[in-house]
Parts: sequence; C-alpha cells; structure tokens
Amino acid sequence: MPVVKFDPHLSNFLIHDDRRFFLISLDNGIFLVTDNCPHRGGPLHLGYFDCQKSTIICPWHELVVSMNHLQQHAMPLVWRNDIAVAVLPEIKSKSIAFKHRHILATSEVSIKGTSSVIVE
Ligand code: FES
Repeated sequence: MPVVKFDPHLSNFLIHDDRRFFLISLDNGIFLVTDNCPHRGGPLHLGYFDCQKSTIICPWHELVVSMNHLQQHAMPLVWRNDIAVAVLPEIKSKSIAFKHRHILATSEVSIKGTSSVIVE
C-alpha cells in the first residue's frame, strides 16, 4: 500500500486514480476520509456538514453519510513534525496528486436549511 507524506497546510485533498480523499477536522481528531460518495461518487467535501447529526449530505443527490462511517473507513494517518503520513489503498496507478481545495463540509458551514445567517 502506498505511504504518502505531505504538508497538510499546503495539501488537504489527495487524488489517487479514481479515488479522492480530504482532510476533515472533528472534535476527536483530524481524519483523511474518502471524498467519493457511496452512492455515485459525488464530492463529499462539497457537501453540507450537519454537526448536530454528525453527517455530511452529498451535494449531488443528498445522500446522508455519517461521520462515523467515514471515520471507520478513514485512511490511517499520523502527524510528525507538521507532516502528515497516510496509507492509501492499493490500486494500479502510482500517481498521487496533492491539492489544496476549499472544504465546504466543515462545522464552520451552516447546516442546509438551517442557515445561521438570515438574509432578508
Ligand atoms: S453521488 Fe452522492 S448522493 Fe448521489
């Protein structure tokens, strides 16, 4: 299995063949979770984070994915001197792209349908 090292300040999004992963910070730690929605591969990092239910709602067809599920399937990840070391699943491709993307699925974003800011 590929072991990758990266600076999480510069890269919070990894692309490994047709699989994508993003870093998400939760109360119990930082996790490298899959970005591919279990339904049809939608981008979970662009989903709505519901911190009360601890779920992400996929932006494509609104499947609700629990953080518990994502954490259970998170990639092994450790930190050493501000460098993240992760183990990715074995696949044919050796190329891994390190990106920095805006992660919408964070607790800082209002919950869909319950905006904390009311625009009148
Ligand atoms: S791809 Fe996520 S709900 Fe369909």
